[in-house]
Amino acid sequence: MTIKIFTSEQEAARAVGECVNSFVRANPRAVLGLATGSTPLPLYAEMAKACAAGVDYSGVTTFNLDEYLGVPPDSEHSYRYFMEKNLFSQININPANTFVPDGTATDPERACAEYEQRIRDAGGIDIQILGIGGNGHIGFNEPPSAFDSRTRIVNLTAQTIQDNSRFFSSPEEVPRQAISMGVATILDAKRIILISYGRAKAEALRGAIEGSPDPMNPASALQGHPQVNFYLDEASASALTKQHKTN
Ligand code: GLP
Repeated sequence: MTIKIFTSEQEAARAVGECVNSFVRANPRAVLGLATGSTPLPLYAEMAKACAAGVDYSGVTTFNLDEYLGVPPDSEHSYRYFMEKNLFSQININPANTFVPDGTATDPERACAEYEQRIRDAGGIDIQILGIGGNGHIGFNEPPSAFDSRTRIVNLTAQTIQDNSRFFSSPEEVPRQAISMGVATILDAKRIILISYGRAKAEALRGAIEGSPDPMNPASALQGHPQVNFYLDEASASALTKQHKTN
């Protein structure tokens, strides 16, 4: 596990962007795991900039972590819509190679199993980008989430509904369920990069990095992964008690 602490979001995003873009340059058929939320937005801007400067995304495949259940892909609240707007339309990726769980699948259980299979068929995820919820969730793996969980339908906690209500006109409008890759699905990625900004994530990060692995803090499962890198701003790192490398 490595922990890098940056003085600004832009600096952190530039560093993660360099990792992702150089991986794509060296591996034109890279498979990337992607996240939604405010956190990855500066990274997506870096990827768009790199693509405009010649990094070729046409052979890249992407898998998103999650999607709201019952929300159609063309709804402005869907994570598919978010990804189209903030990344896919900004790079030369083949739309057929971008996968987001289908929140309107007629048989969601089956769609979850098929999503797992698609990831396997693609050869697995090379780099998984993660944010973190204030309660330690990764994707929508809310506490408690079993470390052997796979892509499935999950219930959102009251805190997540409240946190994500800023994207809706009221908390009542936030869907109560989602489809999310499981903790084990995430741990299958060859490399994991978790990005976090802001004080609101600091306690969850302390538990994830310094606590004992505990399903009540799903991000703590990352301690069992051989190649996980945390990219934090100072506020997110502020509750860490041990000595960590500053970039
Ligand atoms: C949502 C997503 C998570 C994300 C989290 C944090 O709940 N399902 O994948 O990490 O939000 O969001 P933000 O980056 O906006 O703080």
